Amino acid sequence: METFGFLIHPMDMDDIAKKYKIAKKISPKVIASVIKRRRPFVMSEITGIRSITGKEAIGWFIAVPLLPNQFFDLEESYVVEKIAKACEVGRKEGAKIVGLGAFTAIPGDGGREVAKLTKVPVTTGNTYTIATAIEGIKEAARKMGIDLASSTLAIVGATGSIGSACADVLADQVNELILIGRDTTRLSGLEEGLSKRTKRTTISTSLSAIRTADLIITVTGAVDSVIKPGDIKPGAVVCDVARPRDVSELVIRYRDDVLVIDGGIVQVPGPVDFHLDFGLPKRMALACMAETIMLALEGRYENYTIGKDISIGKVNEMMGFAKKHGFKLAGLRSFEKKLTDAYINKVRENALFSGVTR
Ligand SMILES: NC(=O)c1ccc[n+]([C@@H]2O[C@H](COP(=O)([O-])OP(=O)(O)OC[C@H]3O[C@@H](n4cnc5c(N)ncnc54)[C@H](OP(=O)(O)O)[C@@H]3O)[C@@H](O)[C@H]2O)c1
Repeated sequence: METFGFLIHPMDMDDIAKKYKIAKKISPKVIASVIKRRRPFVMSEITGIRSITGKEAIGWFIAVPLLPNQFFDLEESYVVEKIAKACEVGRKEGAKIVGLGAFTAIPGDGGREVAKLTKVPVTTGNTYTIATAIEGIKEAARKMGIDLASSTLAIVGATGSIGSACADVLADQVNELILIGRDTTRLSGLEEGLSKRTKRTTISTSLSAIRTADLIITVTGAVDSVIKPGDIKPGAVVCDVARPRDVSELVIRYRDDVLVIDGGIVQVPGPVDFHLDFGLPKRMALACMAETIMLALEGRYENYTIGKDISIGKVNEMMGFAKKHGFKLAGLRSFEKKLTDAYINKVRENALFSGVTR
């Protein structure tokens, strides 16, 4: 039997209150200080994973008790050590590889420092996340009648590990590329590397730059939502890969003329039971978790995706593993709900009323 662990952390106070009801009665400041000191622990066992090749795997969710902002506000060495301790909890449970979920994948140079402090191989899961984000945005563009080759694509969080790899893969498939980040020097370096392969590339540190984009991949490490209803042009598709989300829920409430899809949601093969409600329907997982599971099924117990640079060769390898083991994109989803063709057609219609011609 192949085995893996996967690290998770609470996304907000509501997540903490789901496990500890008493948390509703305590001030957020006190909760933050208590969970900061809490040790990582096994949250649940994951059973029933069965590849279409017949291979099986079991795993464990390991909780890293830290809130999103604590991953950035606390001293990095403390955070990295805590993540490494969580990996050791997984190893002692029997995991032969551990996936670093959500913000546990970011500190210490994207898992590199964590890998030095634990005896179990680790992976951030970013490689397969990139593959599914690209597959998802292409599928959504097709359904919205957007021609990829003549489109303007914006990437928010373009200087990050996932953002820069998405830019690299899609650079020569679109008409114009807009790279958005916070650091002009890093953005310029990225632009320089890509500009020979794109018809037109621009950089910006302002989110207002996404207003001309037909397609947007957003994948920042921001703790709060960064994309608001007024930022997006009618008829555009936004693929939100970030966790916590980059797109404000207000976008869904006030903009019925744009399509927002969840990036990186994958259907896992077999009668899977996560024994934990993490907000997705049965048998569905985030792509980063799916990467960890596939590496276990392959017996590839090695540090796979670590550091900020992602190899395009590995993105293709992951897509091969997905096909071999029966992992696939879980259709188009938005804020955890499945998107029907009727809904997408309605969004297209609304965009036409807003003056979009396609
Ligand atoms: N759906 C999935 O399966 C999945 C899998 C893995 C990761 N993720 C999520 O993907 C996101 C990015 O991961 P990553 O590994 O690519 O992270 P990363 O390498 O740290 O990159 C983060 C990017 O976001 C930018 N950024 C950070 N804080 C920001 C803010 N407050 N406002 C605007 N931009 C900001 C950074 O800009 P600077 O260059 O200025 O720092 C950088 O470009 C995270 O939310 C993570 O949880 C999702």
